[in-house]
Amino acid sequence: MDFDLVISGGTIVTASDTYAADIGILDGQIAAIGTNLACSNRHIDAAGKLVLPGGVEAHCHIEQESGMGIMAADDYASGSISAAFGGNTTIVPFAAQHRGQSLREVVQTYHERAKSKAVIDYAFHLIISDPTEQVLGQELPALIRDGYTSFKVFLTYPLLKLEDHEILSVLSVARENGAIAMVHAENDDIIRWLSDRLIGGGHVAPKYHAMSHARIAESEASNRAIQLARLVDTPILIVHVSTEEAAATIRRAQDDGLKVFGETCPQYLFLKAEDIDQDGMEGAKFCCSPPPRDEADQEAMWRGFSNGTFQVFHSDHAPYRFDETGKLHAGPNAPFKKLANGVPGIELRMPLLFSEGVGKGRISLNEFVALTSTNAAKIYGLHPRKGTIAVGSDADIAIWDPDRKVQVTYDILHDNVGYTPYEGMEVTGWPETVISRGRIAIEKGELHVQRGSGNFLERSPGYEFIRPRNNLPLETNPETNFGAKIL
Ligand code: URP
Ligand code: ZN
Ligand code: ZN
Repeated sequence: MDFDLVISGGTIVTASDTYAADIGILDGQIAAIGTNLACSNRHIDAAGKLVLPGGVEAHCHIEQESGMGIMAADDYASGSISAAFGGNTTIVPFAAQHRGQSLREVVQTYHERAKSKAVIDYAFHLIISDPTEQVLGQELPALIRDGYTSFKVFLTYPLLKLEDHEILSVLSVARENGAIAMVHAENDDIIRWLSDRLIGGGHVAPKYHAMSHARIAESEASNRAIQLARLVDTPILIVHVSTEEAAATIRRAQDDGLKVFGETCPQYLFLKAEDIDQDGMEGAKFCCSPPPRDEADQEAMWRGFSNGTFQVFHSDHAPYRFDETGKLHAGPNAPFKKLANGVPGIELRMPLLFSEGVGKGRISLNEFVALTSTNAAKIYGLHPRKGTIAVGSDADIAIWDPDRKVQVTYDILHDNVGYTPYEGMEVTGWPETVISRGRIAIEKGELHVQRGSGNFLERSPGYEFIRPRNNLPLETNPETNFGAKIL
């Protein structure tokens, strides 16, 4: 058999295996995995390199209006290009409903935004902020049947949050139709009460954002979301977990046999609340919700990988420029409550975890693949087309140089944000060549695919249930192979 492209001599890493083999690619798919594969067309010598499934970045906000109505700085061109440079081959951003909007129309709008711009493949999660009878009875079930099989609900943000009875109604629709709900778990009343007192006392600087988003707000809401999901017996995924207590709450639910998944993000491993405490408004660059916490919480996030609490690691890329279009939309000295919420990270998500996780022995290479690609593909209905290296899967591959050292500075990135909160960090390991459906998307630091060449990914209702590793102690067991054991 001849191929369009052969990658030879590299070490293939999946969520469960690490082995030396060549990959033959034909018509955008992996057609063969073997030794001495020949090719009269394109050949990539991957000797000394790691050949990984492309990342599935399933929590990012692209060309989306926030709850406050602020448009994200990245559109589907810059967002997907930045994702690709960071080793990703699939993105799953949100089609966000705002109150009064028809869900069906929202989805149409996001298709229009993505179609002519995305350079890699994409799907959409829904955001449900207005669960009217029409949405619950017709639009949402129909959209799930059409393959929009995941959605996010919020327990905070005044214009997005749902009441508990509304969450129950939405979760029931998920259960009946085979969708999975992602939950932003923070107690809105706690945050509002603390914010009012802080602002009333003149404490308006960005650093007070972190104080207003108290840890208890997150653990209470996480527990509440779990109990609501338990009542209607449907799985949930708690996104952007930041605290030790919230992680332990999820872990206990998993130990009790509940179908609860967990996600954490780079900002909870590599940033701290003290980063927000800077002169003037600089700290706004580090404001996201939940906020970065402290070293003990960072350690708890790492433990959450090794003990199986977290199945996925996503960037929650929420890109806002440090100007009047974004962070400072309410003025150059706006109180913390009016800052645009969110940090960028779509391009650095995988290099940061590779360097600090794999490189420092905190997670295995297989765990890295599971956390950044395979598990998201499974949970969100994209596997085995995406998220793995197997015959018949899309040829979505990132070839990593595990030894390449890169000094992070905004100038090397491709998003439209203008800064990175990870400025100055040094990482070891970088995705050098990125292949999307057999097309060489990134090579030698250059983009080789056209805007609009990314495909929308049809999904089917239902999800592949990844069993959280129950009955393991909360403490780390570094010897355990997370990727193999959770399946
Ligand atoms: O601060 C954040 N995380 N902004 C993005 C929206 C969200 O809640 O994920
Ligand atoms: Zn959120
Ligand atoms: Zn988010």
